[in-house]
Amino acid sequence: MEFHRRLPAYATTPLHSLSSLAEELGVGKVFVKDESFRLGLPAFKILGASWATYREFCERHPELVHGWLTIDELAARIYDSPVLFAATDGNHGRAVARTARLFGLRSRVFVPKGTAQARIAGIESESAAVSIVDGTYDHAVAIAAREAVACSGIHIQDNSWPGYEKTARFVVEGYSTMMWEIDQQLRERNETDPTHVLVQIGNGSFADAVIRHYRAKEHQPIIVGVEPESAACLLESVKAGKMTKAPGPHCSMMVGMNCDSPSLISFPIIRQGMNCFVSIPDEPAKEAMRMFKRCNISSGETGAAGLGALLEMLSDDSDARKRLALDADSRVLLFSTEGITDPEMYQRIIG
Ligand SMILES: Cc1ncc(COP(=O)(O)O)c(C=O)c1O
Repeated sequence: MEFHRRLPAYATTPLHSLSSLAEELGVGKVFVKDESFRLGLPAFKILGASWATYREFCERHPELVHGWLTIDELAARIYDSPVLFAATDGNHGRAVARTARLFGLRSRVFVPKGTAQARIAGIESESAAVSIVDGTYDHAVAIAAREAVACSGIHIQDNSWPGYEKTARFVVEGYSTMMWEIDQQLRERNETDPTHVLVQIGNGSFADAVIRHYRAKEHQPIIVGVEPESAACLLESVKAGKMTKAPGPHCSMMVGMNCDSPSLISFPIIRQGMNCFVSIPDEPAKEAMRMFKRCNISSGETGAAGLGALLEMLSDDSDARKRLALDADSRVLLFSTEGITDPEMYQRIIG
């Protein structure tokens, strides 16, 4: 996307093809989009946060849209200096804080109690004011929304609920840059599109972007949504046929996916466009982190969840290999959506 190209530190992130892993798993190819370094941060989330912030400014000040080349030029035109607000379990909040810095603004970020100190330090390193909320992620989102209104700030949230939809749509749009890059990278290598795509789900914004992209193609892959067993709010919602909560506290180490409820705008897209769901405990994600490490990919707890789910699906106890036609002709796409975001935990798992 043209906007992201104009940001400092923009570079297409790597798309690895892991042939030895594909052989080990008995599939044709395994591609991994590696988001361990995206626009200077260790996760993909800044794609959504930066685009949503920019679009919010464009709506407030349409005169800003044209005639800027660098973000500094754009920042110099912002005269009302609103504070950016967000709630997070780590990555989105840091992305909003970094975006605020790029735009020359201040930010306030709310995290649920229990958030790892390393993640809080990461957000604070972007000059954000961090507040710890005594409750779950959804509780932190509610407080960020309230404070943004009280302070006439801008709430940039990767989630939606009745009355908060437009900004969340911008966030989803922002993620599409990743899929455009993958298309281009596959084209450059004369590779065809994936046959299977596994996507991590928190509240579903990222999966929404993935589904929109791949469902617009002529040859559509099988798309599998991956959630922690203890926070499978999309799986529960699709089963129930309506938005359903997976009440906390959520204890999975895959903290990016510890969400109570689906994003309002993304639920119908996921309900219609997802072929199946896999909910996993922490163990396979740990094993996936170690496997990625052996392939020289630094992948955090949530980042490795897609491979963790694939391991579960291909295990002898599962019939997913047969049901989803995962065989020597399959080209599986995984997203390693984050790098090392909690170094202590990473070391403990990698050993
Ligand atoms: C690294 C990582 N991967 C995946 C997700 C899930 O994204 P979403 O909440 O849009 O479903 C998150 C959410 O924060 C995340 O931080």
